Amino acid sequence: MALCKSLSPSPRNLSCGQRYSRFPTRPVRIGYMQPNDPTRAVDTPIDTILDGSRFVRACLRRPVDRTPVWFLRQAGRYMQEYRDVRKHHTLVEICKQPQIAAEVTITAAEKLGVDAAIIFADLLLPLEPMGLPFEFQAGEGPVVHHPVRTAEDVRALRTDRTDDLAYVARAIQKVATHFRDRLGIIGFCGAPFTLASYMIEGGGSKNYIHTKQMMYRDSLTWRLLLDKIVTVLESYCRLQVQAGADVIQIFDSWVGALGLADYRDYAFEASKRLVRSVQAMGVPVIYFGVETGGLLTDMAATGADVIGLDWRQPLDEGWRAVGHGHAVQGNLDPITLFAPLEVLELRVKEILRAANGRPGHIFNLGHGIVPTTPVENVQAVVKMVREFKLENGNG
Ligand code: CP3
Repeated sequence: MALCKSLSPSPRNLSCGQRYSRFPTRPVRIGYMQPNDPTRAVDTPIDTILDGSRFVRACLRRPVDRTPVWFLRQAGRYMQEYRDVRKHHTLVEICKQPQIAAEVTITAAEKLGVDAAIIFADLLLPLEPMGLPFEFQAGEGPVVHHPVRTAEDVRALRTDRTDDLAYVARAIQKVATHFRDRLGIIGFCGAPFTLASYMIEGGGSKNYIHTKQMMYRDSLTWRLLLDKIVTVLESYCRLQVQAGADVIQIFDSWVGALGLADYRDYAFEASKRLVRSVQAMGVPVIYFGVETGGLLTDMAATGADVIGLDWRQPLDEGWRAVGHGHAVQGNLDPITLFAPLEVLELRVKEILRAANGRPGHIFNLGHGIVPTTPVENVQAVVKMVREFKLENGNG
């Protein structure tokens, strides 16, 4: 509750644990309200859906007028406007200055004409209040100065300073104030496994040797580490939801390094705990990973509303593995954005046809936009998705 107070007044007039429309006078039915919740509004007719509710509705598998679209890493180095800001500020400086983080978020979303804005932040920000300073070294990605390797290192991690991340919440408030309910606003965090891998390896990794060593050799310490990470992420996500995030995306970017048995034994429970507690805050959860073809059914068993699909299998096959009781997000290969427009259009349409108008598809890439991507091709994909109609008229 203290957190609620410290952030109020929220642009969306939120109270803890409850999600309302951003316009109390014209409620849009979003989020998880109980069927007997007196604040629950009448469903919005499809022809009056605004972009923000289109995205949130799709997360909840409700019918929409057209497929919502946004892009992983839509604010980044491929965009001149972002490069201009980066001339004057480091990545972490941008994250820590709510006005700049909000501007970067808003500029990218408006330039592309997407249905959702993901807050500009980074997966690693929660490491700092846990007692693990890091930096981004040019060309090398993130470096954690003192990686976590022993039981003692794990015991020393702090879980009581998540309020230090309030700058992310302030950026979300600014974005929410700007967009009102024109766009869905996505908050995010890393998944326990992926975040643990950065903490243990000290940066990116190819084989995750130190991470898997801790898992296999000292599973008690591994579990304590995941437990502490989940505790921090719960508070972090709560900050974001209270500030106005409509949806939380949990990035398990590197979980594809695990075989199914290891996912079940060492990662699943912690992810599930995080998914469930974020949902209890009243917002849908997107659970995303890469090279997860063999894990999809189990990832869906966390109960996440939406599962991210990469491009390595057709969308309909991935959706079957996930189960049609969940929404899916994806799944264009980000490098297709370098193809001629005809090829790009072919692939975009294949994905939309595979979704076949079934409620619960959010168009996206299978992973993030890479730095040299032509912006106009990203804009072209938005247009293709907006204009797409299924041949049988269901689109
Ligand atoms: O538009 C958006 O998507 C929002 C911003 C965002 C960033 N990081 C900013 C950023 C998001 C959602 C992230 C999440 C993130 N950070 C992930 C999960 C997403 C994924 O790709 O699976 C991961 C693994 C990280 C950690 C991280 N941050 C790495 C490995 C790197 C280096 C990568 C590189 O290409 O150099 C970063 C840096 C980073 N975070 C950049 C951006 C825009 C690019 C570097 C820069 O501006 O200097």
